[in-house]
Amino acid sequence: MCAFRPPVYAIAAIAQNKVIGKDGRLPWSIEADWQRFLKLTEGGSLLMGRKSFEDMQREPKWRDDGRRYAVVSRDNALAEPGLVEVFPTAERALEESCRWGQTVWVCGGSGIYSALLPACDQLHLTLIERPFEGDTWFPEWRDLFPRRTASEALEENGLSFAFTVWERE
Ligand SMILES: NC(=O)c1ccc[n+]([C@@H]2O[C@H](COP(=O)([O-])OP(=O)(O)OC[C@H]3O[C@@H](n4cnc5c(N)ncnc54)[C@H](OP(=O)(O)O)[C@@H]3O)[C@@H](O)[C@H]2O)c1
Repeated sequence: MCAFRPPVYAIAAIAQNKVIGKDGRLPWSIEADWQRFLKLTEGGSLLMGRKSFEDMQREPKWRDDGRRYAVVSRDNALAEPGLVEVFPTAERALEESCRWGQTVWVCGGSGIYSALLPACDQLHLTLIERPFEGDTWFPEWRDLFPRRTASEALEENGLSFAFTVWERE
């Protein structure tokens, strides 16, 4: 790990049954959550698996928003100097993105969260108050991060959810 270690935070939106994805996409559309994601991660490094990155690339402005991407994949063809760097493991992606000197946001998917939650300082979780059908899940986090230190309840199009922050003991 580099000498100066920037903050490392995980960020995710999670259904009541821990689903986070379906068919390579988010199973819901919550504008307030997307705006929160953009606001929190502004000026940061985004670390994610290849499938999550492909989902991110569907956002028209993903490359113009000042963020840097550390993508975990065996396919180095995704790399774009100065914007997207590709790493063979989640651990390497974390080690190298820490050297970029800006807050690292661990953005999924499942395997990336499982590998890197132990290295995170804080979790920013949007908890959606109903189950969704899906094929990708968030791991159990309350053993590592038992303290919910913030919670803001909201509703959009009849869907209730809360922006929460979780910390260690
Ligand atoms: N709700 C949320 O907050 C949230 C957040 C993120 C993603 N999602 C959703 O979750 C789904 C994608 O997540 P996912 O778990 O299926 O895939 P993912 O982690 O985004 O991507 C999987 C790919 O990443 C690479 N990879 C991941 N872990 C690796 C490891 N430990 N070692 C080496 N390579 C690794 C591999 O790429 P290669 O095959 O190229 O080698 C693997 O096929 C989508 O539906 C997305 O919309 C939701």
